[in-house]
Amino acid sequence: DIDSSFLQCFSLALKNSTSTSKVIHTQNSSSYTPLLQFSQRNHRFLNSSVPKPNLIVTPNELFQIQTTIICSKKQGLQIRVRSGGHDYEGLSYVSNVPFLIIDLTNLRSITIDIKEENAWIQSGATLGELYYAIANKSNVHGFPAGSCPTVGIGGHFSGGGFGTIFRKYGLASDNVIDAQIVDVNGKILNRKMMGENLFWAIRGGGGSSFGVITAWKVKLVNVPSVVTVFNIPKSLEQNATTLFMKWQIIANKLPNELFLHSVMGLDAKSSSDGGKTVAVSFTGLYLGKQKNLVPLMENNFAELNLQHDNCTEMCWIQSVLYFAGYSINGSLKVLLQRNKTSTSFKAKSDYVTKPIPMSGLEGLWNMLLEEKNPTLIMSPYGGRMSEISESETPFPHRNGIIYGIQYLVDWDSNEETPKHMDWIRKLYAYMTPYVSMCPRLAYMNYRDLDIGVNRENTSYEEAKSWGMKYFKSNFERLAQVKNEIDPSNFFRHEQSIPPLSA
Ligand code: FDA
Repeated sequence: DIDSSFLQCFSLALKNSTSTSKVIHTQNSSSYTPLLQFSQRNHRFLNSSVPKPNLIVTPNELFQIQTTIICSKKQGLQIRVRSGGHDYEGLSYVSNVPFLIIDLTNLRSITIDIKEENAWIQSGATLGELYYAIANKSNVHGFPAGSCPTVGIGGHFSGGGFGTIFRKYGLASDNVIDAQIVDVNGKILNRKMMGENLFWAIRGGGGSSFGVITAWKVKLVNVPSVVTVFNIPKSLEQNATTLFMKWQIIANKLPNELFLHSVMGLDAKSSSDGGKTVAVSFTGLYLGKQKNLVPLMENNFAELNLQHDNCTEMCWIQSVLYFAGYSINGSLKVLLQRNKTSTSFKAKSDYVTKPIPMSGLEGLWNMLLEEKNPTLIMSPYGGRMSEISESETPFPHRNGIIYGIQYLVDWDSNEETPKHMDWIRKLYAYMTPYVSMCPRLAYMNYRDLDIGVNRENTSYEEAKSWGMKYFKSNFERLAQVKNEIDPSNFFRHEQSIPPLSA
């Protein structure tokens, strides 16, 4: 069968130089299920009915990846590459055709060069491991990437990657200066060898269409030794609507050093009727001291009434702990934990280019009250993001975006899945008049299969239905690069870039 043919091909190619059983896990191996579930972040895909990989490969060396690609091609097995397993739709570990997973968990070394202010990071490392490694060497260097420490470098960097200092420094992918990829022919290429087209494509176009990206070289950025954090939650009764209206006007125009996002959810009502109310938390990170932040907020957003009491000064790595939900005085080692308890969830994204009117917000509050645990995260753009052109990388959401929205709902039991999926789709439909249109934009790293999927042999024209939403007109160049690097469309999935022939 396909599995034993693959195994034979693999051991033959490697001339038994590696113990295959340590690297290849078949459905009969005791390591298979724990490995499969280890970084499976969305429990929606833990159901037994979800298709499972024939094999899981956990390479320790690049030649094992080269061999896996060559043998998979021979045997007609598709490949799913997994770094941190946080794909919202499980595309790094679920497929409807026979497939194997290349799980990069063993390829996670990080080499920091403080003198040169750069780092080489293998794709299987997590953001937490990267932040930890930087903090071990310097308290005035950082890296602009996401807030959740368990997110994997491989998926995150190849799809963009934003966090609390992106208004100052751009996306993770904007700070990549070299990379290493194993291509469809099993060749290992660095930036110089892959050429600027492919190097462009993997910085925001998603890695999974182009090969297995094994490592990234990035520029580290400078952070001040003192940063300031604050969080001010306001319920509707405490004027959240008016504050949010003002936030929409100023959030993308604040100095680049100030990131102020707003998070909407439900809160127990402070009154005694036991009900819930909508609450909006205004949470900020300022790259500087509170003595400068407080007057800055007074000038730009006096209505929020930020006081010194609301502020906590800390070093940058403590702000990483803070935004990850950890105690800022605890050990940094929590950043190294790779698997965290998780739930089933569905998320979607939007971009806002003109403030949502009050009437729109009122309807939104009603929709939030229909759900048990809804969260909306509104991330302000502007700053450095507006300075980078839309075509500089495949990530096109630059000048003109006020803020991005992430809609998120999670639940415990998969029996409830349809109910929550219905709710979030209804919410998305409700938001249509208030967000970007033609195309309605979306963030690739918040993968959403509702916006469109490939079928067998989907053409470039058909794939534009979802491709333009993630990439705008960069989608065409992505499809051209795909044609150069993988014309037979070996690396493919529900939202992979189709090859566009000349
Ligand atoms: P995973 O391993 O699932 O891969 C995601 C996709 O990339 C898959 O298609 C996979 O095949 C492909 N891929 C992975 N590694 C590859 C490699 N080495 N070569 C080629 N292809 C590869 N985003 C953000 O911008 N800011 C944030 O703060 C957060 N926060 C956050 C929190 C939580 C809890 C989740 C679940 C997600 C986020 N994200 C996020 C979204 C996150 O950036 C996105 O899900 C990334 O793609 C996850 O990368 P992983 O490597 O973990 O995922």
